[in-house]
Amino acid sequence: MDTIIPAALGNGWTPTSWRDCPIRQVPSYPDPDRLAAMEARLSRFPPLVFAGEARNLQAQLARASKGEAFVLQGGDCAESFGDFTANVIRDTFRVLLQMAVVLTYGGALPVVKLGRMAGQFAKPRSSDNETLDGVTLPSYRGDIINGPEFSAEARIPDPTRMEFGYFQSAGTLNLLRAFATGGYADLHRVHRWNLDFVKSSPLAARYQDLSTRIDETLRFMAACGLDSGTTPQIRETEFYTSHEALLLPYEQALTREDSTSGDFYACSAHFLWIGDRTRQLDGAHVEFMRGIKNPIGMKVGPTMEVDDLLRIMDVLDPENEPGRLTLIARMGAGKVAEKLPALLRAVKRAGRTPVWLCDAMHGNGITTAAKIKTRRFDDVVAELRGFFDAHEAEGTVAGGAHLEMTGQNVTECVGGARGLSEDDLGARYETFCDPRLNAEQSLEVAFYLAEELKARRALRAEA
Ligand code: PEP
Ligand code: CO
Repeated sequence: MDTIIPAALGNGWTPTSWRDCPIRQVPSYPDPDRLAAMEARLSRFPPLVFAGEARNLQAQLARASKGEAFVLQGGDCAESFGDFTANVIRDTFRVLLQMAVVLTYGGALPVVKLGRMAGQFAKPRSSDNETLDGVTLPSYRGDIINGPEFSAEARIPDPTRMEFGYFQSAGTLNLLRAFATGGYADLHRVHRWNLDFVKSSPLAARYQDLSTRIDETLRFMAACGLDSGTTPQIRETEFYTSHEALLLPYEQALTREDSTSGDFYACSAHFLWIGDRTRQLDGAHVEFMRGIKNPIGMKVGPTMEVDDLLRIMDVLDPENEPGRLTLIARMGAGKVAEKLPALLRAVKRAGRTPVWLCDAMHGNGITTAAKIKTRRFDDVVAELRGFFDAHEAEGTVAGGAHLEMTGQNVTECVGGARGLSEDDLGARYETFCDPRLNAEQSLEVAFYLAEELKARRALRAEA
């Protein structure tokens, strides 16, 4: 067999150089010509984001890498074509705003808001097939690839889904931009962001109390001459989009050369990340991602070795550019204390300062006796706590959190203030992939994070 020389180790990056590298998690499209025709079509479509926005995000992430901002990355595990409505988008956006306000106020830090939204459609799978009642079919790989229904037809990868994914991303992004700058995100509306079903929750009082304090602050500021009219920061917010860069034909088709700098940007979202299953040094995903200029992320699971991590960082971020690389640790509550510190130490010793985020979801999956995939709220918080502890001990910066969450009142994760039990999971289990925190559980995580940030700041002030 010929040895493949990984292009990632040479200099010859092009938007297509990933095609010469070994690749994992590829859908088997039955008709290569139809796939190629769709790629050609998408490559003529307008970009969804503009390079300047990606550069602004990178500047924000650079601040987070120094502890001068906190990143909140959240949204669905998988967005769905069937669930594409204004309410779903608004509700997730609204909870992210609530969480950001809790974190900004409690943590006294600017919050970088990064949705897993407007393009989070492709899913890596642990198994290529799924068996149900003795029937085996190809796994569902996300709506941009095939359908979730358990039928042979739905599971055939269909390139026309990429076009639908593009337009759904455009529609979602359009609404997010409208909300972010059109008045919805004005801090004077902080009371009104409270969702109806959260109003009756044990957290409602805490949130109302915070909103009242923000209102008082806004009145004080208005008296000093700072209001929505004079101060855009009160009226508007910055909101960025992200997804896993799994489906490389789609990502390549939306990659554009920036006319001002000559650099290539993936224009399907502001920020893309490499999943834990596709982060091989010589693999296609690392190759594609090393050449795009967007800020990028990589998941770091418990099987990551120190040497591999350093080598991949050399490839993805050779210049050690502030804000370029975000490492999203997803160890699991039981492993974070054992696995994370050595990685933090080695990265620090190498003189590198990536943004470290804690994905407190993907290492904490469990299956109930009734075979339902869920996560325990307490494990999510325990992993976040372990993440903060490890950074404290190593003298590195805990840069933010990555959560699978929704603004809907779903019952997918157990625990939280309302004490959802395994028996409750059947009520509103709506995810197309992994179980998400509902709006109330998400807000509860934000209150926990705010306290953590406050306490750590107090500790540093004493030191
Ligand atoms: C995800 O973020 O949905 C995901 C699949 O994560 P990971 O690559 O960390 O398993
Ligand atoms: Co997931």
